[in-house]
Amino acid sequence: MKIILAITGASGVIYGVKLLRVLHRLGHEVHLVVTKAGRLVLKHELNMEVGELRGECFNIYGEEEMDAPPSSGSARFEAMVIAPCSMKTLASIANGLSNNLVTRAADVMLKERRKLIVVVRETPLNRVHILNMLRVNDMGGIVLPACPAFYHKPKSIDDLVNYVVGKVLDLLGIEHDLFQRWS
Ligand SMILES: Cc1cc2nc3c(=O)[nH]c(=O)nc-3n(C[C@H](O)[C@H](O)[C@H](O)COP(=O)(O)O)c2cc1C
Repeated sequence: MKIILAITGASGVIYGVKLLRVLHRLGHEVHLVVTKAGRLVLKHELNMEVGELRGECFNIYGEEEMDAPPSSGSARFEAMVIAPCSMKTLASIANGLSNNLVTRAADVMLKERRKLIVVVRETPLNRVHILNMLRVNDMGGIVLPACPAFYHKPKSIDDLVNYVVGKVLDLLGIEHDLFQRWS
C-alpha cells in the first residue's frame, strides 16, 4: 500500500512511530510528513530526531514542502493517517485551509474520496474540537481517538499503543496480531 503518515505536535507521537515501524515491516511504502511541532514532541516524548526514522520509510518531508508528492492527487496515495493529530491540524482540515503539507495532503485525500484516518489526541474536548471532528467525519474522514481499550488486559505501554495502532491497521484493511481480539 502507498500511504502517507503524518506526525503532528500532539502528545502520543509513539502511535505514529509504532505505526510507521509496523507498516515498514509489512512492506508498505510509507511517505512520512512531520510538522515542526511534531518534531518538538518527538524529541520531548521519545528523545528522537526525525532523521532516525529515515530507514523505516520511503521518504520524509517537512510541513513546508508544499511541492512534495503528498500535495497532489495525481500521486495516487491510497490512504493517509495522521497519528497523533493535534487539534490545530484537525481544525485546519475541518476548514479546508491546506496551509501546510499535512493539511493539503488531507484535503487531497478528502477531495479524491480516499481514506483519511485522524488519530486525534486531546482531553477534555471543547465545542470547537467536537464540531471539527464532526466536520471531518462528514467529509468522509475517519476520526479515531487515541483511546486504548482495556478488555485485552494490557500489561505495558506497548500493549496500549498496539491497541490503537491495531485499530488503524483494521481500518486500512491490513492483517495484524497487535492485540488479542474479543471472541
Ligand atoms: C509536549 C507537547 C504536547 C502537546 N500535546 C498536544 C495534544 O495532545 N493535543 C493537541 O491538540 N495539542 C498538543 N500540543 C500543542 C500542539 O503542539 C500545538 O497546537 C501545535 O501548534 C500543533 O501544530 P501542528 O498541528 O502543526 O503539529 C502539545 C504541545 C507540546 C509541546
